[in-house]
Amino acid sequence: MSREIMQAAIDRAAEEINRNRAKVSEAPSRQKYHFMAETGWINDPNGLIYYKGKYHFFYQYYPYAGFWDCMHWGHAISDDMLHWEYLPLALAPSEWYDDHMKGGCFSGSAIVHDDMLFLMYTGTANNGNGFEQTQCIAYSQDGINFTKYEGNPVLTAPEGIPTDFFRDPYVWKHNDTYYAVIGANKNNMAQALLYKSPDMFNWEFVNVLHESRGEWGFMWECPTFFELDGKFVLAVSPMGAGERTSVYFVGDFDYETGKFFPQKTGETDWGFHYYAPTSFCDDKNRRIMVAWANCWDWMPFWKDWGPTYREGWCGTFNIPRVATLNEDLSLSFKPIEEIESIRSGEESLGAFTVADGETKNLKTGFCYEMKLTVDLKATDADSFSFLLRQSGDNKTVITYDLKNYEIRFDVNNADGWSKGVARGPLNIMGKDELDIDILSDRSSVEIFNDNYTTNLSCNVYTKVNDEVNAITACGGSVVIKEACSWNLEKTM
Ligand code: FRU
Repeated sequence: MSREIMQAAIDRAAEEINRNRAKVSEAPSRQKYHFMAETGWINDPNGLIYYKGKYHFFYQYYPYAGFWDCMHWGHAISDDMLHWEYLPLALAPSEWYDDHMKGGCFSGSAIVHDDMLFLMYTGTANNGNGFEQTQCIAYSQDGINFTKYEGNPVLTAPEGIPTDFFRDPYVWKHNDTYYAVIGANKNNMAQALLYKSPDMFNWEFVNVLHESRGEWGFMWECPTFFELDGKFVLAVSPMGAGERTSVYFVGDFDYETGKFFPQKTGETDWGFHYYAPTSFCDDKNRRIMVAWANCWDWMPFWKDWGPTYREGWCGTFNIPRVATLNEDLSLSFKPIEEIESIRSGEESLGAFTVADGETKNLKTGFCYEMKLTVDLKATDADSFSFLLRQSGDNKTVITYDLKNYEIRFDVNNADGWSKGVARGPLNIMGKDELDIDILSDRSSVEIFNDNYTTNLSCNVYTKVNDEVNAITACGGSVVIKEACSWNLEKTM
């Protein structure tokens, strides 16, 4: 019976998607190569996995409007994480433990167990005890049609953890044991709780993997945990940590005790639109991270979710990035190399200097990649800026403040809609060069700096196609050692 209720909800959603598909596929603000749903609202990436020769992305999904509401799980597959085929929804609210009208099937993860694809997700419900969050299991033989486990929920909030702050299980396997890390709150401090299971159904608490002492907020959403070159990484999305909404910790971990010893903290991205990243390891042994390119209304810089709801959709993912460990235990997040396969029209600008007050035009357009190397030794400017997506009064200004060691991503005049300045550190002390990689799509600009360690992603909603992109210097000249750009083809 339960399966029938879920199937009816999935069929109803499919009809809605069918009704809106044509309109949204023509929507002017639609991304060209970043992942988005066919129609409607998406937020967190869920259950990312490389399974039977395909990349599977699941996602928090509401097909009935361009706004968040009762959550379903969307599902799409790909060979390269750029070209996508949409599959029927994987999960829809249908049970007493996951049918909260303003909740539904919250975030989670995927793993292969017993030759089946397993999803572990958070069910949300209102059974008279407030907003109850529990962890639940669904599985599939064919990787498309999922059955919710009859023994759900498999985990409820432990003593001392409020039931509305116990969510987003991230599952992995080590030797013969399954582990899950779950975001929680205790005494107003964020925690990542570690559990283990022999069979995906019976779970036992192991330890508090890591917790905030106040500096990292009161709740960690969407934790992900993985080994990278002998170290362990915990990445979380903190609530209540100011503008820091996407953070990672690198350290050592002991499977015997479940103890994690963080040694380094960093930001996965400093932009306004990078949240709830999760990760998976693919067949090439790459640790890939994918995030939702938007933000929540509780964040200090939030204005709204952008104007795209008018076109019947809202939400895209940032470009998938490969995480690697650096010697100083910081992490680099480089866009997947598959992006090179959609490059065309290579244009090399060679070496050039932009003098104080001068502006040099770069490539025109909105769907491109641009790479530059700044010669810091020869540069004597106080700052230099990219003036991107200029059309009429619009321009997105990304300033590299060489005196104050700061990168500022200013969208105040970007598009007549967006507001704010996102800030990140510019770690150039003692360095000879600064490398910059810019990925621009119809409604987003992502910039990667300093060996992909300091990245800022923000959405930009300009509408014309022939936007002008330029670079300018202030207080001296900026010397570019080399610069190259490419058009990026439409994949979606
Ligand atoms: C993070 C989040 C998760 C939750 C989901 C609901 O963006 O708030 O904690 O599971 O979104 O859609």
